[in-house]
Amino acid sequence: MNQGPTNPDPNREADRQLRDRIEKLRAELTEHNYRYYLLDAPSIPDAEYDEMLRELGRLEKSLAEPVPADSPTRTVGAPPSHVFEPREHLTPLLSLANAFNDDEVRDFDRRTGEMVGEPFQYIVEPKIDGLAVNLRYENGTLAVAATRGDGRAGEDVTDNIRTIADIPWHLAGADLPDLLEVRGEVYMSKSSFEALNHAQETAGEKLFANPRNAAAGSLRQLDPKVTAARKLSFFAYGAGEGGAQLAASQSGLLLRLKELGFSIQGYEKLQGVEELLKHYRQWQQRRATLPYEIDGLVYKVDAFNLQQEIGAVSRSPRWAIAHKFPAEEAITRVKRIVWQVGRTGVITPVAEMIPVKVAGVMVSRATLHNIQELQRKDVREGDEVVVRRAGDVIPEVVRVVAVDGERAPMITAPVFCPVCGSHVERSEAEVAIRCSGGLSCPAQLKERLKHFVSRGAMDIEGMGEKLIEMLTDEPEGSPLKLKSVADIYRIDFDAFTGREGFGRKKIDNLKLAVEISKQKPLSKFLFALGIRHVGEVTAISLSEAFCSMEAIMDADMESLQAVDDVGPEVAASIRSFFAEAHNREVLSALKASGIWPETVKAREIPGDHPLAGKIVVLTGTLHQIKRSDAHERLRKLGAKPTGSVSKNTDLVIAGENAGSKLSKAESLGIRVVDEAQLMEWLA
Ligand code: IVH
Repeated sequence: MNQGPTNPDPNREADRQLRDRIEKLRAELTEHNYRYYLLDAPSIPDAEYDEMLRELGRLEKSLAEPVPADSPTRTVGAPPSHVFEPREHLTPLLSLANAFNDDEVRDFDRRTGEMVGEPFQYIVEPKIDGLAVNLRYENGTLAVAATRGDGRAGEDVTDNIRTIADIPWHLAGADLPDLLEVRGEVYMSKSSFEALNHAQETAGEKLFANPRNAAAGSLRQLDPKVTAARKLSFFAYGAGEGGAQLAASQSGLLLRLKELGFSIQGYEKLQGVEELLKHYRQWQQRRATLPYEIDGLVYKVDAFNLQQEIGAVSRSPRWAIAHKFPAEEAITRVKRIVWQVGRTGVITPVAEMIPVKVAGVMVSRATLHNIQELQRKDVREGDEVVVRRAGDVIPEVVRVVAVDGERAPMITAPVFCPVCGSHVERSEAEVAIRCSGGLSCPAQLKERLKHFVSRGAMDIEGMGEKLIEMLTDEPEGSPLKLKSVADIYRIDFDAFTGREGFGRKKIDNLKLAVEISKQKPLSKFLFALGIRHVGEVTAISLSEAFCSMEAIMDADMESLQAVDDVGPEVAASIRSFFAEAHNREVLSALKASGIWPETVKAREIPGDHPLAGKIVVLTGTLHQIKRSDAHERLRKLGAKPTGSVSKNTDLVIAGENAGSKLSKAESLGIRVVDEAQLMEWLA
């Protein structure tokens, strides 16, 4: 048999396999030692560890060579820690020059183009907001991890880096350089950051201002167990020593790093500066959707031979630039917390701050959303806070970063509207607090007027949103100035004469429309008042049930809830509206101007019906008729259905499983009948 030169010598092959196995066991056992002794978090059972250690011992013996002093068979515990000792990088870590606007990017592109002298490709990567580390792999095994430091040497953070799940301890794959430096960014995801700050808060510890600070603080821990608990991540974006052996371009390198077991970011290959700038605009919108923070894009010349040609100046390469996004967050101090009344009456806490530039704009006010958020974030006057202004959203206070000595007391929710002095409503169902002075509150005036004149309400044709805006913005003292809905009926129409866009005909039509609106029925008028939860249908139900403004204004919770589709929340809203003296004043003004709906004629009631005039309560389950239909028909017979039993109740109609209302009726000696009797009466 011909043993060709390609067939390996069986002895040499066995020897190679033995050495490979020994090296693999040593590396794995070193890793387990680290997990066991340093992190208290073994990843395999003790028996398996012992078995591996015994196998290594046997193999080292069979190799019949001196065993190195750092072999796991010769050491106990974890390898010695070199925490924060200085470590020189094999090749320096360069930094990036920054571009803050399009012109600076164009300059960069022009310079680069001149040096290259032919068409070339850029690679674009997001710029992760974390901290750079250099990972030195010796024969494929992570040997040293160091921070960037001054670019030439950094601090040894190997123990802590080993806790990051994204960083392989051993590199998979063949054709690896003996010495390889992988570069990338250690960062903290937005969700880990939130979780960490939450835990810090619960433990009464200081909060981190942003994910970058949190990542840096977590990496610089003496105890790797702390780092391990902090959930750091890593993206590889480059290589130092040995990099040129892996690929011929940045995009090729990223793919290779991925094969080796690293996480890499998505990237794009583009040509020409306009493409770069277009991409930048897209990323400004997209950045918020990433699970981690980025602070710009990095444009790099893709081909390594071109990078070489272009070279570097002092500490940064000339073939790359960081195009920074305007920072979306800034730190400033809260001067005062005030309550702001929105167009719809919702009252929100707002922080007035020492002005600070956020995302390119000076910001001096930021929302605290609502009282719950204010309490959760525990923001107080005098605190140092992070303000955020992302995209088009209103600036918000994100969190407190520092407090100075004695803190101001927590702000409490107002009891009266800061704009109009009406009482403040707070419903159980929602977190918002509201001003109840809908008709009188200047903060809500425009919205209220627009609703008041709209179709379905007073329906004043020709008085649209634009005109309302114009009339409310009139200077003080103008005969056209609107300060309340009542003012609509006091407008001096002659004052329109001579105003641009107001011909005689238009003025006359407007005057007529206002005049006609005075005759609106009760339901329309009621709807026009803009009472929360009182829509057109509820307004009709109320007008049918109560027949007059006065009756509705004086109705109690019980009688309101007896009306179709009026539940406790709607009833409370109606009560609160009419209980507010400021609203009653506006209503009086309307009445004084003759704007008061006529009392609806009560329907013909068959006076001899046994239910006529009776106050009735329905309780329990009815089987033959819906409760709302029963209410409706009882009303038509002249009865007054109400929601709860009191000494004024004349009759209780008890369906199946009637409970407390029935007991109460019995204890008060009120007459009780069943569903069958009800049906007989209704028939
Ligand atoms: S390349 C010679 N790519 O930004 C080029 N850096 O301001 C070296 N960074 O120190 C860096 N994301 O910490 C590069 N995709 C990315 C990056 C990135 C974040 C950081 C890195 C560097 C700093 C420069």
